[in-house]
Amino acid sequence: MSEAVTAAPVREQQKYADEGTPPVRNCWYVAALSDEISRELRERTILQDVIVMYRAADGRPVALQNRCAHRSFPLSKGYLEGDRVVCGYHGLTYDPSGVCVRAPMLKTAPTYVRIQSYPVIERAPLVWIWMGDLKRADPSLIPEHGWLADAGWRSVGGYYHVVSNYVPLHENLLDLPHFSFLHADNIGTPEYAAAPFDVSAEGNKVRIVRRVDNAAAPPIYAVPMKLEGKRVNRVSDSWFMTPALHVAFASIRNLDAASGERVDYRVNILHLLTPETQQSVHYFWFMSRDFALDDPSAGKWLKDSAVKAFQEDKDALEWICALVRQESGRPFTESSFASDRAGLAMRKAILALANAERSA
Ligand code: FES
Ligand SMILES: [Fe+2]
Repeated sequence: MSEAVTAAPVREQQKYADEGTPPVRNCWYVAALSDEISRELRERTILQDVIVMYRAADGRPVALQNRCAHRSFPLSKGYLEGDRVVCGYHGLTYDPSGVCVRAPMLKTAPTYVRIQSYPVIERAPLVWIWMGDLKRADPSLIPEHGWLADAGWRSVGGYYHVVSNYVPLHENLLDLPHFSFLHADNIGTPEYAAAPFDVSAEGNKVRIVRRVDNAAAPPIYAVPMKLEGKRVNRVSDSWFMTPALHVAFASIRNLDAASGERVDYRVNILHLLTPETQQSVHYFWFMSRDFALDDPSAGKWLKDSAVKAFQEDKDALEWICALVRQESGRPFTESSFASDRAGLAMRKAILALANAERSA
């Protein structure tokens, strides 16, 4: 589907995911960065489940329920013995599959006792986890992000803990008109809010493409690309891929390139959203460039600019979340417009996925 934008308002009904929609479980989420997982036990809450993560002796990442089956002691407060986790209360010991392989108070191990073990896949620099139906844990469902480990690209990244539901955060990423206001001096330029865009949906994916032709590049790109004072064509091709991943492919074409000068520049931006609870999100991000690979100042500029912009998004979403919660008893219907079409398509997709799990 590809739709032209009109000025007509979109009527909002009870058909979109909102802050109350349970997070989709049948999806690969980023559990951690590779370098966060080591031979130390690390606790993290993901989709309300408290998890303990570590590396087995051979380096393989392991994720287990962080709750001893005996008296609920947090296993992250225990210790590792080879590949196994020993509970710090009475010593029950679990292998990476979650089976209890030792109980010091018993003569034989109660192997019928087990805690949950979660499928994990490492694609450095990311470790992915599956929190849903084990039969559906197909690794091919992880969207492509090979440029993070490709020598032809350089990446900078970061992490935010955001006190908001993940649905408005996804909507923020599909919402390009906010660039010119919330990020006015950084990634937005005045003409960006009014530039034409196309929205399309493919299955549960939502795409929004926006073009700005023959204009100045925004500061975030103009400085590291050395395009200040030049005219560019700019395309932003953003995808809601899964409830865990949004990716934006930015292309800049230098219209004033002198002979021999570089013409095309690309930046891929990954937004990796892992719900912690109904009202909080682990937000990992990466910005990857295919230019100035050996110029650390380009990476620093991109990172500093992104940190500023994403902090503005985090602040906005946390203010919204706090206000919505404070007024939770007051009837209120938000207005939506044609410019919100991509966000509404995403909300519809998330609701369909969540409803399919509720009825399964
Ligand atoms: S609570 Fe873990 S062994 Fe007792
Ligand atoms: Fe933003």
